[in-house]
Amino acid sequence: MPDEAPWTLFGPESEVRQKGLVGRTINGREVAVAAAGERIVAIQRRCPHEGANLDDGQVFAAKAIKCPLHGFIFDLFTGKGLNCPAFHIATYQTKIENGVVYVKID
Ligand code: FES
Repeated sequence: MPDEAPWTLFGPESEVRQKGLVGRTINGREVAVAAAGERIVAIQRRCPHEGANLDDGQVFAAKAIKCPLHGFIFDLFTGKGLNCPAFHIATYQTKIENGVVYVKID
């Protein structure tokens, strides 16, 4: 059985809440963390279409993100392309401890 991926520190929850979207490279992976209503969610940072930074996009309805380049929309919780069914983004588990966001990247 493979080892479970460790939790990796992403950054302050307050920064994510203030900005709404924050992108970073952690463990060599491009990750974006978003405030989706009360939840904090993590997704791959680069759009699978042509590689735009999704953290330059827009979160709406507390559950979806719109790519800034061509407007593809992805579900923040499932990664499913909502107006682009051929596309999908990775989602990662998150947890918050003492005001710090951690992401589990497999
Ligand atoms: S690069 Fe994101 S929709 Fe085209």
